[in-house]
Order: sequence, then structure tokens, then C-alpha cells
Amino acid sequence: MKALVPLALSSVLIAAAPTLARADDAPVAEQIVNAMNKVFGVHAGFRANHAKGIVAEGHFKGSPEAAALSKASLFAGAGIPVTIRFSDATGLPTIPDGAPPANPHGMALKFHLPDGSDTDMVTNSLKFFPVASGADFRDLLLAVAASPPDAPKPTKVEQFMASHPAAPAAFATVATPDSFADEEYYGVNAFILINAAGARQAVRYQLVPEKLVHLDAADAAKRPPNFLMEELPERLKRGPVTFHLKAQLAAPGDPTNDATKAWPADRKLVDLGVVTVEKIAPDSATAERALLFLPGQVTDGIEASDDPLIDVRNAAYAVSFSRRSQ
Ligand code: HEM
Repeated sequence: MKALVPLALSSVLIAAAPTLARADDAPVAEQIVNAMNKVFGVHAGFRANHAKGIVAEGHFKGSPEAAALSKASLFAGAGIPVTIRFSDATGLPTIPDGAPPANPHGMALKFHLPDGSDTDMVTNSLKFFPVASGADFRDLLLAVAASPPDAPKPTKVEQFMASHPAAPAAFATVATPDSFADEEYYGVNAFILINAAGARQAVRYQLVPEKLVHLDAADAAKRPPNFLMEELPERLKRGPVTFHLKAQLAAPGDPTNDATKAWPADRKLVDLGVVTVEKIAPDSATAERALLFLPGQVTDGIEASDDPLIDVRNAAYAVSFSRRSQ
């Protein structure tokens, strides 16, 4: 029996070897997951990014305004069950919730439609994204990996920030919330809503809480390491938490293919309905392993825009899922 372990290990290494040898020719999504593994380490069973999270259950009810924008059954007005995962950024499963790199926090939603299919939204607390392409995201991660505390100045990451001004500007939009329930989450990537008459409207989603509460950095650093993960179950025992799902409507000429460019703040916001978070999933740790949220998994009446990040994300999430499922 003892021989089985090294045998199994060596077959894994042999299987991995061609992938490692080809690392630079690998699709960019795989290079990104490799770079995440380099920065955060490999933690068996956990996501390459947003590794620490908690799964909740609830429902969504679409508004009449949503039904006018999209023929999706999601927006038809019936109660739609939804599975939600709140998370900390980074691939570190034990990152303290108040640590600065735990920002942006994530809110991923999987809506379970009446026909048995799912439609997903994967949002975070950055108001816009630091980079516009998969290649730039990979380069940002590689720059972080090449900038240990003792790296000579300017470090690779400082150089990246200087040559990509949207990146420091995006990171400046986040702060630690006092609760996952008191945070605002942004879709960042544009999607197209299509109504029954065939009219198409580019939108970006926002999940707007009942109240927004951000901590200052010194206060966040003093909080217990799992304060966000522990607070949500306590809060839900006292009653449900709601978010308004809103769509920011693009005006003609607003870029849909560049997630670093927020649309002007005066663009119309349409209330698409209310997400009610009711309870923590019975076994959150098991549930999160089985869950795969895909930003581009959308139902009829919703389409991905020409934002190149959507395809890269779909591919990268699938790579991470297949690795964490092994
Ligand atoms: C090129 C761009 C991006 C890449 C390559 C990327 C990559 C990843 C990967 C590999 C995972 C782990 C997936 C899994 O194992 O299930 C992940 C998780 C996540 N990402 Fe991204 N990401 C990108 C952009 C974004 C953006 C724009 C947002 C939000 C606006 C976002 C929010 C999240 C969230 C919330 C999770 C956790 C999902 C969950 O709870 O299962 N990411 N990302």
C-alpha cells in the first residue's frame, strides 16, 4: 500500500510536467491562474482567487422596470431562488477579513430559474476594474509575484501601477465594510439586456445594500480575523438582509469593452428588483466547493457584451474549478 502514494504523486507530476513546460504558450486564462497560484500559493480544494467565502441562500424578485428591459425569466416578477457566495479577495483561505488585500470583497449570485437552468452574476466591491485585458491582469499578478518586500525600488508592481494609472485608481475605490451586508458590489463588466421587442440595452450591474458602512483602515486591522464570516450568520438569525439589484444604463458611446472606464455617475440607474438573503447554506464549506459561478453564464434575454474580460474570466474560473476539484 505504501508504494501507492509516491506512485500517485509521480503520476500527478508527470501529468503536470507538459503544462509547466508550456506555461508561456498556455492560454492567457491558464497563465492567470498560474500567476495567482504563484502569488498566493496553491491551497488544495480552494479557489485560485476569492478563496475565503461563505455561502448563503435567498430569493430574488424582479421589478416591472426590469421586465421592460429584458425578457429573461429572471425578471418576470416571480420569486427566484438564489445561491449567494460572499468572499474575501486573494487565494489565501485564511486571510484576515479586515486585511487590506481582502478587498475587493465579492458577491457571486446563482439564480435558479423556473426551467431548471441557472443564470449567474459575479460582482465585487471595486467600482471599476484595474485592467482592461486578460494579458494585463496576468502582468499585474506577475509584477506582484516579482515584488517581494526586499525588491529594489521601483518594484515591478510600482512600475506596473505607474504605466497603468487605472489600476491604482481602481484599488483606491475599495474599503473594508463592517459586514458583507453593508457593502456595495459592482458587476464592472457590461452585459446587454434584450427585451421582448428585441431592443438591446448595455448595462452594468450594481448590488446596493440597505446601508453602506465602511471602516477606516486602522479599525479594520483591529477586527478579529473572521469578523465578516462570523457576522453574517449572526445578522441573518435576526432577519433577512436585502440588496437592490440595479442596472446602470449605458448612453450611446459609453465603452462596453473597457472595464477600467466607469460610465459617468449621472447615467440612469434602473431598479431591477430585490435580492433577499435569508440564511447561511446548511454546510457552507461543502457547498462552496461544488459551486462554480461563471460571469458569462447568462440566460436568454441577457448577453455578454464585447468586454474581453468576460471570456477570459469564464475560462479562468473553469481552470480554477478543475484544479480545486481534483
Ligand atoms: C481578467 C479578469 C478576471 C480573472 C482572470 C478572474 C479570475 C478569477 C478566478 C480564477 C476565480 C476563482 C474561480 C473559482 O475557482 O470558482 C475568481 C473568483 C472570483 N472573481 Fe474573478 N477574475 C477576474 C475579474 C473579476 C471581476 C471583474 C470581478 C467582479 C466584478 C471578479 C470577482 C470575482 C469573485 C466575486 C470571485 C469569487 C466567485 C465565487 O464566490 O465563486 N473577478 N476570479
